[in-house]
This record gives sequence, structure tokens and C-alpha cells, in this order.
Amino acid sequence: MRISVTGCGYLGAVHASAMAKLGHDVIGIDVDEPKIASLAQGEPPFFEPELPELLTASIASGRLRFTTDPAAAAEATVHFVAVGTPQTSDGNAADLSYVDAAIDALLPHIGDGHVVVGKSTVPVGTAAKLAERIHETGARLVWNPEFLREGYAVRDTVEPDRLVYGVEPGDDASVAVLDEVYAHALELGTPRMVTDFATSELVKVAANAFLATKISFINAMAEIAEATGADVTQLADAIGHDSRIGRRFLNAGVGFGGGCLPKDIRAFTARAEELGRGEAVAFLKEVDGINLRRRKRVVDLATAELGGSVVGRKVAVLGVTFKPHSDDVRDSPALDVAVALKGLGAAVVAVDPKGVANARVRHPQLDYAEDATDALRGADLVILVTEWPEYVGLDPVATRELVAGATVIDGRNALDRDAWVGAGWRYRGMGRS
Ligand code: UDX
Repeated sequence: MRISVTGCGYLGAVHASAMAKLGHDVIGIDVDEPKIASLAQGEPPFFEPELPELLTASIASGRLRFTTDPAAAAEATVHFVAVGTPQTSDGNAADLSYVDAAIDALLPHIGDGHVVVGKSTVPVGTAAKLAERIHETGARLVWNPEFLREGYAVRDTVEPDRLVYGVEPGDDASVAVLDEVYAHALELGTPRMVTDFATSELVKVAANAFLATKISFINAMAEIAEATGADVTQLADAIGHDSRIGRRFLNAGVGFGGGCLPKDIRAFTARAEELGRGEAVAFLKEVDGINLRRRKRVVDLATAELGGSVVGRKVAVLGVTFKPHSDDVRDSPALDVAVALKGLGAAVVAVDPKGVANARVRHPQLDYAEDATDALRGADLVILVTEWPEYVGLDPVATRELVAGATVIDGRNALDRDAWVGAGWRYRGMGRS
């Protein structure tokens, strides 16, 4: 298939590279010139495991090119739209300006027999509106939500756990086109569901709302555990053995962040309110509230551990990204904690294997260490906020030699508590005594 992908960020760059690997002819389009220049040289402008190898191989095959020229879309007949839908600066709704701009740029270059495939996460009702404009060119629209996780994006794109096509009634032709695009995944037996536009749009936000709720549920239990002396990790293990509940996404800690979960639950709430159904998802405000309280909990714990004031005390913050195996610091709980402690007067030194460059752009006021040893040396307090394997695997005995005060706050309940306590550390977890 001849494919264009508009928007070459975390989603689009991986999608374009993966589609080329699967044998399609792909042109990646983005308005960001430095990003396109870097991708064209086989260098992803962000960190994503397996992407550099995939990108290089796809470019070498001659099936993947990148450009800033929207007219290049005319070479393709299937047009993926993978631009971002961030939170608006003045509210909770999703900012659709990048989606609108992408469609505006595509319209002059599409026509009969073309299929536009929306992958961006959008408020329910968006596809129906866009379809009217797309139909005027003779092309069709499919909404095909993306469920990839950063850190596993390549695997999730090549072998997704399900495919959802939102189509207009009777649009079998577009279904057949997408089946050809995704022939590899379908041959592997990937479940594929054909729905209407609204259902496909809702599948994505409902999935993310559910995951966010699951995390906030266990973090709410952590709050109760903290008041009672119970241990939330044992609680999660015990309820997780019930297969109806399941253990995944029940890790209590500093909560969820990133470019998807936080903004998606807020946009969902805003859209439901517009539809007069705000009550149906009012619980998502609680989910958001519980989540944000966990960041404050870490800051409060740090203050308490340092005797009521952090002023002038050296705090080593391990991790700035919203999760390991990513360089993404969007709405990162780790970075929020570092910034809050700095705001309270602590001498914060943050460190991260991949996220420092992005963090520095957003928060140049923080001090960043070259490596964990550098961050830990002379620290009065250590806080683990992103569970990178290199921090989880720190040797508590050797680490103790580096610090001034042997207290660790485990913001992800990821450290081996017994080993740290055994090495003479005072250990504070989340929702554990
Ligand atoms: C998420 C969805 O998983 C994915 O399907 C969707 O396409 C985009 O949004 P992602 O943002 O990459 O993916 O991260 P995810 O792995 O879901 O983690 C989100 C946040 O939740 C991270 O900050 C993570 O640390 C946190 N988390 C996850 C917890 O706090 N506890 C858990 O048990 C699981």
C-alpha cells in the first residue's frame, strides 16, 4: 500500500517506520523541520526502544521517506493522521487544532478511492464532523485508535493486541483497505472490530479512563493503608489474584503521568459535560484528584523526613520521566515532585538515564546530575520516583556510602525494602508502613 503519515511524533514516527517494515511504501509528513531532518537521517528525535534500528532498516529498504511538504501525500492513497491532541491551555478539553490543520493540509491532495485514517485520540463526535469535509474530495474516513505504550511502541504497533476500525455504515471498501494495511497483524490472529465512528473514538478514551481508574483505585487504597498501617503492595497482590480484577496496573506509587492518561481523562470529562452527561464520568475528577494527591504525598513525606523543612537540604531525585524506558516528561509525577521540592527551598539534584534534556527545557531551574552517583553524593534524602532498572537495582550498601542521610522514599514501591532496611536505610514506601 502507498501510505502517508501526517504527524511524526511518538505515535506517527513509530507507525510510519513499522508500516514500511511491513512492506508498505510510506511517506512521513510533519511541519517540524528539525524533526523531519533528524528522522530522514535515521535518528529519532526522541527515545523509544527499538525505534532507531527499525527506522534505519526501513529507510535503507527505500520504502520510508520523510518530508515537510504536505503535497507529498498525493503519492499515497491511505493517509494516517497521527498528530497530537494536547490539553488546551485554558481548560480541560482537547486541543484539536493540530488535527484540523492536518486535515486542511491533506484535503487538496486526496480524492476518489483514498482513505483517511484517524489515529489521534479525539473527543467523541470529531470523526463525524471531519468526514463531511473529507467526503467532498471523494475520499473516505476511518477512525482507527492507537493503543501503543511508550517504551513498547514498536512492539505494540507491529503486533497490536486489537484493531478497531470506526467506519460509516456499509463502508466495506475502507475495511478492506485497512485489512490490507494490517495484513501482518491479522495473520497473527489479532482481534479486529468494526464499529461506528463514535464507538471507535470512545474505545480509546474508555480504555485510558479505565487504566487511570485502576491506578487511582490502588492509590486510594494506599491512602487508607497509610492511615491504618496496612501494606498496599500485599493488598494489590491479594486482590490481583482474583482473575476478574487482575494484578496489572495495580502498582501504587506516585501515580500516573505522561502525554495520554492525564489529558485524556480531562478531555473525556469536558466532552461528557458538553454532551450533558457530565455526571456519568464525574468519578474521573476523583481519579485525577487522587492521582495528583500522590505527588503531594511524596513532597510531604520528604518534608517530614527532613524534620519539617527541606530548606537547603540536598535531595537526590532518581528519575524525571513519567515512566521508565521513555524520555517523555509530559505531566511527569517525578518532575513535579522535583520542582515542588525545589520551590520549597531544597537543593534538588535530579537524574535520569534519558529524560534530562527534555526536563531541562521545561525546568532549567533544577540541577541535573550526570549519573546516579553524582546525584547521590552527599544527599540528605533519596527519592526514587521513576522505576528505571538502573535505580531499582542500586546496591543499598554501596549507595549508603555515598549519602549524608540514609533515608529513601520509594515513590514506586519498586525497591527491595528488606535489602535497603538491612543495609541500614530508613525506608518509606507509598501505602506501606
Ligand atoms: C497509555 C496507555 O497504556 C496506552 O494504551 C495508550 O495508547 C496511551 O496511554 P503510556 O502513556 O505510554 O500509555 O503509559 P502507561 O504504561 O499506560 O503508564 C501510564 C502511567 O501510569 C505512567 O506514569 C506509569 O508510571 C503509571 N502507572 C502504570 C502506575 O502508576 N501504576 C501502574 O500500575 C501502572
